[in-house]
Amino acid sequence: MEIGILGGTGPAGSALAVRLASVGHEVRVGSRSKYRAMEAVDHLLELWPDHQLDISAGDNDYAASAELVVIATPWDAAAITARSVASHLDGKVVITMANALDRVGHEFIPLIPPRGSVAASVQAAVRGCRVAAAFQHVPAKELGDISGPVDSDVMICSDHSSATEVVTGIVNSIPGFRGLDCGELSNATAIEAFTAVLLQLNVRYRTRVALKLVGIEADDAGGG
Ligand SMILES: NC(=O)c1ccc[n+]([C@@H]2O[C@H](COP(=O)([O-])OP(=O)(O)OC[C@H]3O[C@@H](n4cnc5c(N)ncnc54)[C@H](OP(=O)(O)O)[C@@H]3O)[C@@H](O)[C@H]2O)c1
Repeated sequence: MEIGILGGTGPAGSALAVRLASVGHEVRVGSRSKYRAMEAVDHLLELWPDHQLDISAGDNDYAASAELVVIATPWDAAAITARSVASHLDGKVVITMANALDRVGHEFIPLIPPRGSVAASVQAAVRGCRVAAAFQHVPAKELGDISGPVDSDVMICSDHSSATEVVTGIVNSIPGFRGLDCGELSNATAIEAFTAVLLQLNVRYRTRVALKLVGIEADDAGGG
């Protein structure tokens, strides 16, 4: 599938770009500056010379023209960025991976945006698209290391079951990931806020945690 990533020059977007390309997706890295996107893509291709990666670079408009679009900007830029490319997003599945957080010293504090979540604010900003929240909990470093799988569940929620289905398919195409249907977009509030807990655990235990839930039968959830 052709997937565009808005804000794809940051650690999270670049990591997702290379991971998606590693499983055969055609990825467009977007940026406010096409030159920054070109630098980011050159860097990714230099890092992984032995992989066949179909990754191209352009501005956010270019990325938003893809079949499916991911928003990987800081949380307070997500809705504004979506609105800036709204003409491309009508009817499309749009994944938001942003978390509204603040850091005070060693403490991570979840912030609740006005509509309850970043994902809900993007859906409100561009009503014609189908927003799904996903990938909030996956650490960029592991996501971007395509020498091995990322062993993690990925929580997905959306008000559009068709979007959940498409995103689950993408998640499950990545080795080690298991996509879980976490219901409607209202649950993005809890999913995004929970990231603060995971980051706190990283600091406390000097690690990078990933999320794995028990109690769901393998037959009920796919996964690579
Ligand atoms: N880092 C992680 O491990 C991780 C994991 C899961 C989810 N996330 C979430 O993913 C999102 C991106 O994380 P990140 O660490 O990659 O963030 P980041 O580096 O701060 O930002 C990502 C990109 O967003 C663009 N951007 C920055 N400010 C912007 C603005 N005001 N308007 C429009 N675009 C702007 C920049 O690209 P250009 O300057 O090139 O346009 C930047 O490279 C965050 O919301 C984070 O919560 C992060």
